[in-house]
Amino acid sequence: MKKIQISPSILSADFSQLKNEIKRLEEAGADMIHIDVMDGHFVPNLTIGSPVIKILRKYTKLPFDVHLMISPVHKYIGAYADAGADIITIHPEATDNLINSIKHIREFKKKVGVSLNPDTKINVITNLLDQIDLVLIMSVFPGFGGQKFMPEVISKIEELKKIKNQKNLNYEIEVDGGINFTNYKSVIEAGADILVSGTTIFKENNGDIKKNIDSLKLI
Ligand code: DX5
Ligand code: ZN
Repeated sequence: MKKIQISPSILSADFSQLKNEIKRLEEAGADMIHIDVMDGHFVPNLTIGSPVIKILRKYTKLPFDVHLMISPVHKYIGAYADAGADIITIHPEATDNLINSIKHIREFKKKVGVSLNPDTKINVITNLLDQIDLVLIMSVFPGFGGQKFMPEVISKIEELKKIKNQKNLNYEIEVDGGINFTNYKSVIEAGADILVSGTTIFKENNGDIKKNIDSLKLI
């Protein structure tokens, strides 16, 4: 039986209570914390940066799954590594040399994630898949929580799963954006290992995050 991991996005959390929100997520059985870093340039929204991550680091042992929606991203990788990120995920469009940025994340001994927007083709990373720990498939265009899941990315998940099996590679497939109780099973069946969710986890069932996390693991 495949073990699905849940990475709740704190973009949907109460930003005035982030310390308590991440503690609640840990108690509710989250496998990691998805931290959406946005710079108002790569995406039309602004959230938190490395100083906030540094503060939050001491309040949980859970891995920080840091999604950098910032550009240029290369020169900031060190700051997020030092702040306590465990997985550093970047977008190919945010660096002028993806291989160098991947190597730079490795220098800090962090897990390397690369994120594909709905309109970014897999062939952008085909030759790098053996150097990547995690492929983050965006099922919405990045920038906001609460958007509608784009079912056309299902075939991308299936394709990445097929490549992983054919080439015997180890990257994990994480899917991010609009995941809910109606579509999560199809995402898992297509090959996802990790589900990111903000709105569903924090808002469904009157905000019962343990119930919502448990429900997303049921297949
Ligand atoms: C969007 C972020 C996602 C988003 C997920 O740019 O990368 O992580 O917060 O939130 P929901 O689950 O509400 O779509
Ligand atoms: Zn994200």
